[in-house]
Amino acid sequence: MDVENEERTAGTPAPPTQPLISGSQIHKVYEVGRDRVEILHDISLRVHGREMVAVMGPSGSGKSTLLYCLAGLEEVTGGQVVINGVNLAGRSRTDLAKMRRSELGFMFQSYNLVPTLTAAENVELPYLLGSRKPAAGLVAQALAQVGLSEHGDSRPSSMSGGEQQRVALARVLAQRPKVLFADEPTGALDTRMGRVVLEAIGEIAHTSGQCALIVTHDPNVAAQCDRVLFLRDGRLVAEMVQPDSAQVAAQLAALTSEAE
Ligand SMILES: Nc1ncnc2c1ncn2[C@@H]1O[C@H](COP(=O)(O)OP(=O)(O)O)[C@@H](O)[C@H]1O
Ligand SMILES: [Mg+2]
Repeated sequence: MDVENEERTAGTPAPPTQPLISGSQIHKVYEVGRDRVEILHDISLRVHGREMVAVMGPSGSGKSTLLYCLAGLEEVTGGQVVINGVNLAGRSRTDLAKMRRSELGFMFQSYNLVPTLTAAENVELPYLLGSRKPAAGLVAQALAQVGLSEHGDSRPSSMSGGEQQRVALARVLAQRPKVLFADEPTGALDTRMGRVVLEAIGEIAHTSGQCALIVTHDPNVAAQCDRVLFLRDGRLVAEMVQPDSAQVAAQLAALTSEAE
């Protein structure tokens, strides 16, 4: 019996599922010159399958750093990160890179496109790095999903910021990741394209056995997520379940004014 049918069986309680993302008491310290700057303080969070969760907070509150730590791109200074049952501590860089290519999708705030490659080649890159071939039509399908069918042969330098951001999204969509991290995935997009991108992320997140954690500044984006986590000065200070955009905006305004 597959999980979907199991979940739908009336009267049977759903089996306890292990979270796909689990962070326990995460601390992150950067050494700056002779100083140690603690960026993340004691952050614990869980994201389960079929969840799309937003992370919000004032600029500099540690949102990107938290995503890097959870995705194994940065090592935590203290605490533990477990992704899909795998404890990231002690894994070699090669192991982590392999895991990121196969199970984790990371959409960077700065897109991280390779300028010498075309849009289609950029989308295919995670497969090429893992010496794998994407299924036939997958790259074209991902580009179509973000409205860039005509741009497969374009290089990033000839594309607008919004188009580059959509190539970065097509790249994670084509990966079909179990766990999708996206750092401000709609930052450079207009409202209509932002909605398209968010729907594509939601489609991944709301599929059985997958989830998404996205950083956003936009209360409308956060309101389309299942939960919203709020960071301030590197601490997790609030959480809302299925808030509307006005509630999110009010919480964010409260955090920002307290931070000043
Ligand atoms: N590599 C680094 N070395 C030192 N400080 C850093 C580094 N990366 C980020 N920071 C600092 O950590 C804080 C949080 O940064 P970041 O996670 O990018 O915040 P956000 O994404 O919420 O804007 C900022 O004060 C930033 O200057
Ligand atoms: Mg950031």
